[in-house]
Amino acid sequence: MQRCLRLCSARNRGLSPVSTENMLAVHFDQPGGPENLHLKEVPKPSPGEGEVLLKVVASALNRADLSQRQGQYAPPPGASSILGLEASGHVAELGPGCQGHWKIGDPAMALLPGGGQAQYVTVPEGFLMPIPEGVSLSQAAAIPEAWLTAFQLLHLLGNVQAGDSVLIHAGLSGVGTAAIQLTRLAGAIPLVTAGSQHKLQMAEKLGAAAGFNYKEEDFSEATLRFTKGTGVNIILDCIGGSYWEKNVNCLALDGRWVLYGLMGGANISGPLFSKLLSKRGNLITTLLRSRDNKYKQMLVKTFTEQILPHFSTESLQRLLPVLDKVYPVTKIQEAHVYMEKNKNVGKIVLELPQ
Ligand SMILES: NC(=O)c1ccc[n+]([C@@H]2O[C@H](COP(=O)([O-])OP(=O)(O)OC[C@H]3O[C@@H](n4cnc5c(N)ncnc54)[C@H](OP(=O)(O)O)[C@@H]3O)[C@@H](O)[C@H]2O)c1
Repeated sequence: MQRCLRLCSARNRGLSPVSTENMLAVHFDQPGGPENLHLKEVPKPSPGEGEVLLKVVASALNRADLSQRQGQYAPPPGASSILGLEASGHVAELGPGCQGHWKIGDPAMALLPGGGQAQYVTVPEGFLMPIPEGVSLSQAAAIPEAWLTAFQLLHLLGNVQAGDSVLIHAGLSGVGTAAIQLTRLAGAIPLVTAGSQHKLQMAEKLGAAAGFNYKEEDFSEATLRFTKGTGVNIILDCIGGSYWEKNVNCLALDGRWVLYGLMGGANISGPLFSKLLSKRGNLITTLLRSRDNKYKQMLVKTFTEQILPHFSTESLQRLLPVLDKVYPVTKIQEAHVYMEKNKNVGKIVLELPQ
């Protein structure tokens, strides 16, 4: 009966029936444009030592998915080649050696090195987090990658302190919307850059003290004006090349410049070192996906203990995942086009057929 319901609901959505050993997953045969993406029936994974099988209700899109689809960002060794760095759903099976933290049927959300955009994914149990009270499964799918990244950038790498000023580039990206709220939670002052008035207004609603449209003004000069000439203590930079000179110009003495993406290119030309040295600036770089399991488990545990309680309706300074659109996964091509056009404010969520 259960199998029939599953097949019928898949059929109702125009999907092929799937046997119990198989599942539907987002797939591309060749790297290239969004038109290469489709759903494919592939074998369902089974959990290994210390792993849990998660039945996925929702996943979310990340910039990394676009790069992987274009053939520019291979999954780390051992990771699934299926797209999807995060997912929410229910625990469906426990592998050998699980420590008893999770039981079958528990709702959970997970950080993943890949594989989230499928009906099932296996994940080390230490990468799972409980879903905060008052947060839906679709909202939960938008938390792991963006929020763990923003938390890591601010606290583990940027060493944010109350009173610090933090310049957040791509302030309305998935990561940016999390970083604005976490900066406020830390008692620091978020400033953002973004490419439209609409995005800047949204940033203000999320708690940004000021926002600069990088297409219309020099964000570096505007930042110096806002900070009365001292510059910012921390820059969260996913742009890289095209912003380097402006970044170093508006960095405070002893400031921390955390580079975590290269949307503005990888090459620079000019006296970066002398300018950075004159500020005694710290340039820190990071990639989360390629970090080892021990580091990720530590990050997930610290975030779960220190930050997750703030998502609950009881919290005085409530954190909220910002969702722009929720697509059925059948619309995966549309979702990629939307992100590629820089239209999203916050996250794009994908719902999997149940
Ligand atoms: N290192 C890590 O561990 C890690 C982890 C997660 C994400 N990331 C990186 O974080 C960044 C954000 O990821 P996401 O998934 O949250 O992104 P997203 O939601 O797709 O948002 C990206 C936004 O960046 C802005 N942008 C794009 N190209 C730009 C350019 N050349 N110059 C200035 N702004 C540009 C656009 O907004 P505007 O309209 O404002 O231009 C775009 O909407 C990406 O670079 C991603 O690779 C890194």
